[in-house]
Amino acid sequence: YTAEIDLDDLEKGTYPYYMLKEIDEQPAVLRKLLLKYQNEANQLTIDQKIVDSILESDRVYIVAAGTSYHAGLVGKELIEKMTHIPTEVHVSSEFGYNTPILSEKPFFIFLSQSGETADSRQVLVKTNALGYPSLTITNVPGSTLSRESTFTLLLHAGPEIAVASTKAYTAQIAVLAIFSEVVGIQKGLIKHGVMLRDIGIAANAIQSIVDDKESIEELASEYLSTSRNAFYIGRGMDYHVALEAALKLKEVSYIQTEGFAAGELKHGTIALIEEQTPVIALITEKSVAGHTRGNLQETKARGAHTLAISMEGLNRPEDQIVIPHVNPLLSSLAIVIPTQLLAYYCSLHRGNDVDKPRNLAKSVTVE
Ligand code: G6P
Repeated sequence: YTAEIDLDDLEKGTYPYYMLKEIDEQPAVLRKLLLKYQNEANQLTIDQKIVDSILESDRVYIVAAGTSYHAGLVGKELIEKMTHIPTEVHVSSEFGYNTPILSEKPFFIFLSQSGETADSRQVLVKTNALGYPSLTITNVPGSTLSRESTFTLLLHAGPEIAVASTKAYTAQIAVLAIFSEVVGIQKGLIKHGVMLRDIGIAANAIQSIVDDKESIEELASEYLSTSRNAFYIGRGMDYHVALEAALKLKEVSYIQTEGFAAGELKHGTIALIEEQTPVIALITEKSVAGHTRGNLQETKARGAHTLAISMEGLNRPEDQIVIPHVNPLLSSLAIVIPTQLLAYYCSLHRGNDVDKPRNLAKSVTVE
């Protein structure tokens, strides 16, 4: 393999920190991915051997750690909705020792920005010993997971330097969307692909969010910067993003943050809500928007400092952040961006080293 490294990617240029540069790069990363996964007929495509292998399987197991695990949670929704293949998502450090009962014909997907995470690799070693097919989706060609798995799909996101992962998360989701649509088309479940157009639309949506970062910086200082703890809530796809949003905020700001299924908060955790506790709701799914708003209201009634991030079409006048409308299957690509920016600005306001948060490593090669 030859690594495709553009020297400019390794420079911060005019950016004060890599994390901000990498957040800003996301529209370009998605557009590049669409080019890389397009054939001459301008259709999205992936290696037919991968499609054949997955079509022979009866269940997909996604295995990953950290932010990649959260991309996997979104990936499960995409795979199940577009291919109808049952999909499970597992934290790699658990899977190795607490292995679930496997189906007859499992297909493994390893999600890993670095392709080097030891927890994920120890699962791959096991699945290889059992002879199961595997696909690694990674940003690093020639990485360990890529070399040792049956197939690889690359993220083409360029080097990600900041420890907190941003562009690799969105690239993973985009690759999983492309993968799911290609398989769905071959299964006859999808007549006309829309991902080429709709990932492009999501890239434009991200662009407009990052262009308005000053307003998010203001919200970060108004709602979060001085808080001891915070909560993100959402339902469905928004719940998966709430987990990633919470991880990002805790990684770089050190504010104790939890992501919750909006409906679950009242079953215990609402006891933690005090006067001014920040609760941030993510609202992109029509069928559950009203319920999430109700849950946000419940926390407000108990003193929470509430913030709503909603998608155009579902927005209300009081919402502090409204993102452009995108295909609901791809809402995670857009709604995660304000949460990345909130984390970034909170970290700066608190005087933390945003690119190298304490105690964290970019790539964890020990179990
Ligand atoms: C480390 C990083 C996280 C990352 C996780 C998985 O813990 O600090 O940001 O999400 O590893 O990394 P991977 O390279 O496998 O995606």
